[in-house]
Amino acid sequence: MTLWRLALLGGFLLITWCSSMAQELHVDIIPKPDRVILQDGALNLNQSFPVYYSERFQELSSLLSEVPKLQVASYELFRKMKKHQPAGIWILESSESDRLRPSEYTLVISPSGVMIKSPDSAGALAAIQSLHQLSMLQHTAALPFVEIQDKPRFAYRGLHLDVSRHFMPIAFLKKYIDVMALYKFNQFHWHLTDGAGWRLEIQRYPELTKKAAWRPQAHFADWEKYGKRYVEQGTANAHGGFYTQAQARELVAYAARKGINIIPEIEMPGHSEEVLAVYPELSCTGLPYTQNEFCVGNEQTFTFLKNVLDEVLTIFPSEYIHIGGDEADKSHWKTCPKCQALKSKLNLQTEEELQSYAVQQMDEYLQSKGRKMIGWDEILEGGLTDGATVMSWRGEEGGIEAANKGHDVIMTPQSHLYFDFYQFDPRTQPKAFGGYLPLERVYSYNPLSEKIAKDKAKHILGAQANLWTEFMPNPQQVEYMAFPRALALAEINWTEQDQRDFPDFKRRLQKHYALLQDLGVNYYRPSFDVLYDVVYDAAKKSNRITLSSEQYTPTIRYTTDGTDPNNESPLYIAPIDLAVSATLKAASFLDSARMGPIEIVELDIHKAIGKSVQYNTKWNDSYAAQGERTLVDGRKGGVSYQDGKWQGFTSDIELVIDLDRREELSRVAARFMQMPGPGVFFPGSIKVSVSDNGKSYREAGSFVPHIDKNPAVLDIQSFEIKFDKPVMAKFIKFEAKNTKKAFLFVDEIVVD
Ligand code: ACM
Repeated sequence: MTLWRLALLGGFLLITWCSSMAQELHVDIIPKPDRVILQDGALNLNQSFPVYYSERFQELSSLLSEVPKLQVASYELFRKMKKHQPAGIWILESSESDRLRPSEYTLVISPSGVMIKSPDSAGALAAIQSLHQLSMLQHTAALPFVEIQDKPRFAYRGLHLDVSRHFMPIAFLKKYIDVMALYKFNQFHWHLTDGAGWRLEIQRYPELTKKAAWRPQAHFADWEKYGKRYVEQGTANAHGGFYTQAQARELVAYAARKGINIIPEIEMPGHSEEVLAVYPELSCTGLPYTQNEFCVGNEQTFTFLKNVLDEVLTIFPSEYIHIGGDEADKSHWKTCPKCQALKSKLNLQTEEELQSYAVQQMDEYLQSKGRKMIGWDEILEGGLTDGATVMSWRGEEGGIEAANKGHDVIMTPQSHLYFDFYQFDPRTQPKAFGGYLPLERVYSYNPLSEKIAKDKAKHILGAQANLWTEFMPNPQQVEYMAFPRALALAEINWTEQDQRDFPDFKRRLQKHYALLQDLGVNYYRPSFDVLYDVVYDAAKKSNRITLSSEQYTPTIRYTTDGTDPNNESPLYIAPIDLAVSATLKAASFLDSARMGPIEIVELDIHKAIGKSVQYNTKWNDSYAAQGERTLVDGRKGGVSYQDGKWQGFTSDIELVIDLDRREELSRVAARFMQMPGPGVFFPGSIKVSVSDNGKSYREAGSFVPHIDKNPAVLDIQSFEIKFDKPVMAKFIKFEAKNTKKAFLFVDEIVVD
């Protein structure tokens, strides 16, 4: 029997138990712990507790004094459990008999107080963070009696922040780290250098922060628009900033105390316009403002980078150092005599191999200093250097390839973890980078792809979300984009896959909105806008409409008679079946007030549903949606072209619908999406022809969509061709011109 259990038997002192209190107690921790056993009763926090710590936890036990509502009376090195021990807080190194593995912890709240056990600091810190959350989640000064046993799924739990596009003050970074720690992140990837500004003092190269950290425009977009120039520090109206080495060290220590390691990123060989503006001798042209990539044929480049790293290594004790490696232009290397001479000397065939050589120089240098190198997945091109850990961002493929080759990998795919993407309908959101990444999609991510061999799974260290700040000019906007999506990531990284469940996460999240409010975090509030899904049921010949919103328990009312829904319209309770074409209008309500816009859904029961379609031009394989069924399945797409309902084309569209028999036709309509950011445009024209034999066609009508000079961030329109008089035909040929030579996205071709 452990000392702790003896103490439990012996010391029923200072028990405060109150059943009405018990009903209000919450153990809705995010990320969800491995095992939680809630018991009746609560520990009253209207008293102060002595803290007893094992020697190795002396320093971190001071974090207990930061747990809200918890009053620490004293700190004392733990020796042994006393008889008639009054209630206290114990933070103890576990013994063999506790059978706790590295990073694991137990947290028991009982009449005797709080008992934390772990074999190491990582586990003890996680326990304190659980305690911190538990306290914040209660409405009263009490902690529920509970037994928690917990451990992380992944060792690497990261969040990134780009401070180059927009400089962020240290005070904010501390707040960011505080929130990260509360949700059990343990890695902060600090993107310190990029074309938009160098942010770290390097004593040997003062121009980096005297000039390359400052620009005449505050906002990245304006800086980009007006020529991407830097100005001397101290110039009137100069915007930007940098961290002194002392400030960076202070942040490192601040984060370390909370269990967070800071990984600095020093970009090379691309994304380096700012360096080359002030040290142009390191570019192929020798001129400032001419290229984004270092000249790798110039030995001075490596001298510079190694000198920079020497200073970086004195600031950051992190085992991992990130050297970037993404999106290097490489085009100047092709015509640069120095780069070409190096290529010949090393007998390299491609510019990718030159990049690989440059990365290898960094890898070897960092290894010689006892560190490990991380690079973005482009470092796979041209051959991966031995010691590299790959950060997979363009998708999961790079990470899968690297892991299967035996390299360590951190998953940060933009498909699920780029928090610079929109988190809701772009028409309702502040400008973001593009893309579409709502909370549920983030939550659905599993870093362990099935394509990773079983014996290579250990190479997936964990996942990280990236926050590139092109459209985040200040801390408030960073918070808005990071939260609550970072809470979903916290659970991806911490909680076993079979224990994860979005509805339960969403339920717990309701409590964490209040917690984020208490912390003053400007998080994205869940929208009231009505979301819908329409599926055609071929057997019943009817459309089934499902309505929802991001609200936890939304009140949605709807009509099908063309009137606007009000607080007396039918309440949506379950999916609605409609066997005739109709217009459904729906909106969210809070008591009697309508919240947000009326969503209008055109529901078509049309003649082409379920019919066969022959594609004369093929869809783009990345956006096949449901293949040949997509455009005649009755399903309408939502605001994301990745939702499996929109079919994407990079060519013109030409297809033929076979109606099985001659039908009388009155119109053909096709619904298209336009989203200029990622290059999705309406067609220049559409045309419909008909035929009885599928060989000779006669034109039935055409339509030229209006081209907007300043298109909205997102637009969805149905383009209709109405026939003057009914047309009889068995085959319908549909054509749409990809005038912009970009993407066409269409979700349905409606035939009446
Ligand atoms: C990246 O987003 N270029 C790593």
